[in-house]
Amino acid sequence: MRAPETHSTEIHLVVNGESTRVSVDTDERLLDTLRLRLGLTGTKEGCGEGECGACTVLLDGLPVNACLVPAVQAAGRSVETIESIAPDRLGHMLESGATQCGACTPGVVISSHWVRENPHLLRTHSIRELMAGNLCRCTGYDGIVEGLAAAIDAENPDTHDNGERA
Ligand code: FES
Ligand code: FES
Repeated sequence: MRAPETHSTEIHLVVNGESTRVSVDTDERLLDTLRLRLGLTGTKEGCGEGECGACTVLLDGLPVNACLVPAVQAAGRSVETIESIAPDRLGHMLESGATQCGACTPGVVISSHWVRENPHLLRTHSIRELMAGNLCRCTGYDGIVEGLAAAIDAENPDTHDNGERA
């Protein structure tokens, strides 16, 4: 059976707040567009199969695995990568010892940023549930969860809950 033909096409999208036009192959992954065409190498490839979350970016504000998203599906949409996340979003990870080799870190920080921007999600989901798409082979999850909980508590001092965020 013949493989489907690949064509190039130009798409327009907003990447980290900047209007961007880029030529992509019709079967290209968003991960490759970001890393290879736009030079945004902060987004990492781990499994390449949607299992690890290392490639997490925000697409229209929601976390997705960039290794699973065809670049053409990002046309007309907004993408945020680790390069656009302020350095203060890393602090809680460093303080809680949640980084080691760093392979998972960009994806973990993106997902953590999403949780911090949407603390209402914690009314119905625990941090572990919201971060379940990001695997870490080095540190385990206690540091990631504890650091994120501390950051959320610092940012939402008036929020009182049952203390079972994690
Ligand atoms: S590289 Fe995309 S989920 Fe693992
Ligand atoms: S720090 Fe190595 S995989 Fe998470």
